Amino acid sequence: MKSAILMAAGKGTRMHSDLPKVMHQVCGKPMIAHIIDQCKKASVERIVTVVGYGHEIIEEAMQGQCEFALQMPQMGTGHAVMQARQLEEEDGLTLVVNGDCPCIQSETLEQLLKECESADMVVLSAVVEDARSYGRIVRKEDGTIDRIVEFKDATDEEKAIREINTGIYCFNNKKLFKHLKDIENNNAQKEYYITDLVEIFNRNGLTVKATIAKNNDEVAGVNDCYELSLADKWMRSRINEKWMREGVTFVNPDVTYVGSDVTFGHDVTLYPNITLTGKTYIGDGSTIMPNCWLENAVIGKNCTIDASRIIDSELKDEITVGPFAHIRGHSLVESKNRVGNFVEFKNNHMGYDSRCAHLTYLGDCEIGSHVNIGCGVVTVNYDGKNKWHTTVKDGAFIGSNSNLIAPVTVGENSFVACGSTITDNVDDEDMAIARARQINKEGYGKAYLDKVRGNK
Ligand code: UD1
Ligand code: CA
Repeated sequence: MKSAILMAAGKGTRMHSDLPKVMHQVCGKPMIAHIIDQCKKASVERIVTVVGYGHEIIEEAMQGQCEFALQMPQMGTGHAVMQARQLEEEDGLTLVVNGDCPCIQSETLEQLLKECESADMVVLSAVVEDARSYGRIVRKEDGTIDRIVEFKDATDEEKAIREINTGIYCFNNKKLFKHLKDIENNNAQKEYYITDLVEIFNRNGLTVKATIAKNNDEVAGVNDCYELSLADKWMRSRINEKWMREGVTFVNPDVTYVGSDVTFGHDVTLYPNITLTGKTYIGDGSTIMPNCWLENAVIGKNCTIDASRIIDSELKDEITVGPFAHIRGHSLVESKNRVGNFVEFKNNHMGYDSRCAHLTYLGDCEIGSHVNIGCGVVTVNYDGKNKWHTTVKDGAFIGSNSNLIAPVTVGENSFVACGSTITDNVDDEDMAIARARQINKEGYGKAYLDKVRGNK
């Protein structure tokens, strides 16, 4: 059995934020979610996240992704691990990971698990230029690890050590739980340190190894918003590089934000200043022009999206969107559509080869195929209490500046004259004109203007 305990109960005081530290996002996803994903990739079967400060927020966000243990109050990282009691009886190996190292990769976790097959405890260390406030790795003369000393407890000589503790460990699970009980809190912070287990294991004749990380950026801890930005930058450049190597064109990868769960077809081009997040997919041959925000958006083949926002919606093939369109609320746009500037779709199913080129709101509706929606059409879906549905059938033509007051159905190949306010259903092939008839008054125009302009 492979298990993992993720320590995520601290507030993260140095973030100066009400949000628990591990919920701060790196590449569009909470730090803790990245670690859970990587544990799963390393085939860890049971993951227990130890929560405390703001636990409701973490539990809600990660529901179904892992198990939880509550640590109240937070009395140190050793105390945090003690709370994962549900793992006490498990055999096998257990990873223990600080919740604030979002960049850790599954390959490194796998390596720790492998090394722990011939040890009782493995510590992932790193050799760094600036050891800051990390715990220091103190080695014995024979080169094996002797203990970890926390920065706040370190002598000047120990502070000079550049090999640091990353806060990522692997244990023989039974031995971990046996010796957690031996941790004491006689240190500068009066906390139970998980790091004390190095000394305790050594004292009990168990095998402890420290293995040096290959990439320091991957194992860096995040303690404040600056370090969060460094983690984000590192992960972003990895994600972007991966996709560029798989054939996605990034016009400027430095200002293109692609989340870790975003995927692409081939011959996709991404212009600068766009954010693709959530479970977004961009299909073959599609181009995302500058200034787009796409979140859980599924885009088909050969689409062009320009300066627009698409959330929780799907677009099929050969569609052009924008600039300045907003498609949201589980809209589905069939192929060959044109969604123009200042158009908003909410929960709209837009049929094949239809058009909606300018200044329109279509909410809670079913629009057929080959429908033309003129400029400035509004589906009036909300009466102040309830939302109502609009249906426009195949081949209908809705003239500009018309209001369709829901619930209402406009029939197949029917025609709504521009400027109409439609309150009643329109039958197939009929024409609806719902506006006051125009009156022209001879000479009144000039007479009026002369008056207001003060002409004699
Ligand atoms: C810890 C290590 C330090 C290491 C560093 C790497 C200890 C004592 N020190 O220090 O050796 O160099 O990580 O980043 O472990 N947490 C809890 N409950 C608690 C306290 C902390 O769940 O009672 C969680 C925090 O939410 C955080 C993680 O443990 O995700 C690490 O805690 P933090 O306070 O950041 O430890 P460091 O001081 O960075
Ligand atoms: Ca930390």
